[in-house]
Amino acid sequence: MSVKKIGILTGGGDCPGLNAVIRAVVRRAQSFGIEVLGLRNGWLGLIEGDVEPLTSFSVIGILPKGGTILGTSRVNPLKTAESRQKLASNVQRFGLEAIIVVGGDGTLSAARDVWNLGVPVVGIPKTIDNDLRGTDYTFGFDTAVNIVRDAIDRLHTTAESHHRVMVVEVMGHKVGWIAFHGGLAGGADFILIPEKPYHLDEMCAVLESRRKRGRTFSIVVVAEGASPAGEPLPENVGDGTSTGVGYYVAREIGRRLGVETRVTILGHVQRGGSPTAFDRILATRFGIRAVDLIREGRFGQMVGLQGTRVVAVSLEEAVAGPKTVDLEQFADAEVFFG
Ligand code: F6P
Repeated sequence: MSVKKIGILTGGGDCPGLNAVIRAVVRRAQSFGIEVLGLRNGWLGLIEGDVEPLTSFSVIGILPKGGTILGTSRVNPLKTAESRQKLASNVQRFGLEAIIVVGGDGTLSAARDVWNLGVPVVGIPKTIDNDLRGTDYTFGFDTAVNIVRDAIDRLHTTAESHHRVMVVEVMGHKVGWIAFHGGLAGGADFILIPEKPYHLDEMCAVLESRRKRGRTFSIVVVAEGASPAGEPLPENVGDGTSTGVGYYVAREIGRRLGVETRVTILGHVQRGGSPTAFDRILATRFGIRAVDLIREGRFGQMVGLQGTRVVAVSLEEAVAGPKTVDLEQFADAEVFFG
């Protein structure tokens, strides 16, 4: 299919690797003589007509940079009849033959809806949470896991010196991928994830028995979405931006074991800074393949990594619900809880 002009937007929470995708899309498109228009701040750019032409000059030096040169937002383009109408008329006005939508579940659900309205779109999965279906990994995840791993390495030495239990709260929205992989890589003594509600008494019994056996410190990793078995997380433990589950878990460990605890909430540090080599490569491969899908006229699709291959899956399938941690895989981490 001969295409002359496409748009690209980045929506939802930012993550390392977005600029690598933008660079790859622009360079691949340019090699086929396709013009690329950057839509600023997610869907908002398309609704408001806030756009910038992207050339190979615009993407020089951005590969290692975190964030997104296009800006982002969590705006839903189909929320009102007015935004729907503006979106459709701007697609015409700018002569966009296709739009590459780089996002997580919210942004890609909107992409699926926009495609169902007849606008040609191709999705690219990004999120530190790794919770999109149809892809083994989203870019941003590996960088976040490495940040968590580094934090746990550092916490080990101070935990050991003070004989404390260090509780590390990590992001992940409603799934436990970052906690699982970050905790396993960092050698955590316990990892609490939303997919497996926890029993504080059982965990404390294990921590206590380890102390008696001479290991006088522990690291507990808690996913922000994790909650205790049989009961909801008590209200008012968070501050509205963090669930505060880390504070709850630390308080309960301290109360039950009579040991000193400290809490580290890694927060948005996990989303900042330069992407790892893995994320740069994944984002680059995704960007190239997305342009190729447009040239092949395969819309309503998302690129994804399955095994070592970059494939196309339907947006419908990708956003059909969160990809949760497989508990059989999680059992590998549980080997070390004792
Ligand atoms: O989806 C990415 C993510 O970082 C989640 O892990 C987290 O729950 C959320 O976004 C935080 O969003 P915000 O940047 O709006 O605080």
